[in-house]
Amino acid sequence: MSADPSPALRLRRLRASAGIRAMLTETTVEPRHLIQPLFVTEAEAPEPIASLPGISRIPLTQLAAKCAELRLLGIHGVALFPKIDPRRKTAEGAEALNPSNLALRAIREVKTKSPGTVIFADIALDPYTTHGHDGILTEDGQDVDNDATVESLVKMALLTAQAGADFVAPSDMMDGRVAAIRRGLDLAGRTSTGILAYSAKYASAFYGPFRDAVGSARPAGDAPISKASYQMNPANRSEALREGLLDVQEGADLIMVKPAGAYLDIIRDLREATSLPIAAYQVSGEYAQLHAAAAQGWLELRATRDETLLAIRRAGADVILTYFAEAYARDFAARG
Ligand code: PBG
Repeated sequence: MSADPSPALRLRRLRASAGIRAMLTETTVEPRHLIQPLFVTEAEAPEPIASLPGISRIPLTQLAAKCAELRLLGIHGVALFPKIDPRRKTAEGAEALNPSNLALRAIREVKTKSPGTVIFADIALDPYTTHGHDGILTEDGQDVDNDATVESLVKMALLTAQAGADFVAPSDMMDGRVAAIRRGLDLAGRTSTGILAYSAKYASAFYGPFRDAVGSARPAGDAPISKASYQMNPANRSEALREGLLDVQEGADLIMVKPAGAYLDIIRDLREATSLPIAAYQVSGEYAQLHAAAAQGWLELRATRDETLLAIRRAGADVILTYFAEAYARDFAARG
């Protein structure tokens, strides 16, 4: 007679060997789940971004080749962000509506030379405005004018669709923009262009390196306007549900949560509230913090990277926008 055999339930049996663990893995991250954000420049040579180690702005002439290379790695989607010449910026961001601006040229370039690439194009005015806000300011300069901004975004979305983007991705957080963009696209016959709505975009401190990458101004705190007057309060959860469901109702094809890592509960809430596919944006600061810690020798880059991506998928995201996409896919291919 052996001793009392308790505990009777031993969960470690299902973790006992690599084979059992592989067989019972619930969540996976494959290159097809990832979308690579790409910064585009008019410069001749790639421009490394100090706060995003391993990421450079890509010259327009090299962009299509990069997209084709990503597809061979299994990454079908790219999100394009232009670095606009500061001399082209104005308070109203009129350059956004210039038919030969860098963003539109980049879309045409990718569509013609790497036609299989799925293009997500950001719709917001911040790369084009001198003040760095995502919209047009009111006359007194004390607020972002919601409805005037939406009007401009609809025009921008239409130009973007005509240039060949598969999805327009409003990232501005103005009210009513998804419905207005959907209607504008439909009236112009662009019924097959999709909308990836940045639905729950938080006023986050994790966007710092991105603003370096596109050279957009960093609107200072509350003086006179804060991005918190349109982006969501990080303290709020039910509001994200309202934003997400409203965008679904307004005609979004995919809804997004941003940032990702600090908002896994929001991803899960939306996953349970809608059957639409959900995207999550692992933003620039999430990428930069792992690189910074790894450079100190304090964290292992690949293992922490993989764990964060897995957590975002486990929370319920179908696709992830991440600066790690290419590196992840290369390691994925090497693992066989
Ligand atoms: C702008 C936009 C931002 C990001 C994507 N689109 C910055 C902002 O709102 O200030 C951030 C992405 C990142 O940090 O990686 N509309």
